[in-house]
Amino acid sequence: MSGFVVIEGIDGCGKSTVAKTVADRLGPRAVLTREPTDSWIGRAVRKGDSEEVSPYLDALLFMADRANHTPEIANHLESGKIVVCDRYYHSTVAYQTAYLRRKSQGDNFDWLLDANIRISIHPDVTFLLIVDPEEALGRIGDRGELSRFEREDFLKEVQGNYLRLAERDPTIVQVDSTRPPREIVEEILQALNERKF
Ligand code: TYD
Repeated sequence: MSGFVVIEGIDGCGKSTVAKTVADRLGPRAVLTREPTDSWIGRAVRKGDSEEVSPYLDALLFMADRANHTPEIANHLESGKIVVCDRYYHSTVAYQTAYLRRKSQGDNFDWLLDANIRISIHPDVTFLLIVDPEEALGRIGDRGELSRFEREDFLKEVQGNYLRLAERDPTIVQVDSTRPPREIVEEILQALNERKF
């Protein structure tokens, strides 16, 4: 069966390792993809990040990348693949809501969610990896310079926004990610199996 699986969570939650291992374990019927993408728009997103563009442009760049990526995902689904995506629209709702608030732009959660739903395919299931932000930062601490998002209070707020999304959407499954990646992968594969993937 084809299907669309998204792995989400704050920086340092282990999602990239988990997404890759889940896709590997599903074998040739799975396609692994991610956002920001490696397309020219994905590169623009990273450039915007390093140049600290305005917070609305920041949000719109992530969304432009998604609007470009979504038809690719649709093509894979049409050809019967299981698409495993490392970050999708939930990232924009969680991070850019927090970032815009930091930049004194009020609460942008509702319009970001509404606009992103319009440019996205609704995932069959989203696994939200939950970890204490302090622990997450400890994990990424030795990767070098931290990004503008990698601060404990910011990641706390981002995780709070993810939980706001989870309250509204029963296809978002919370996964305790304080455990080793191996166990997280098994839990996700089991959940996919139960959903007949
Ligand atoms: P990340 O998954 O860490 O990608 P990479 O390993 O290629 O750097 O994502 C980069 C950062 O971008 C991360 O801090 C989360 C942030 N981000 C957003 O703020 N909004 C989004 O919509 C997406 C997809 C990512």
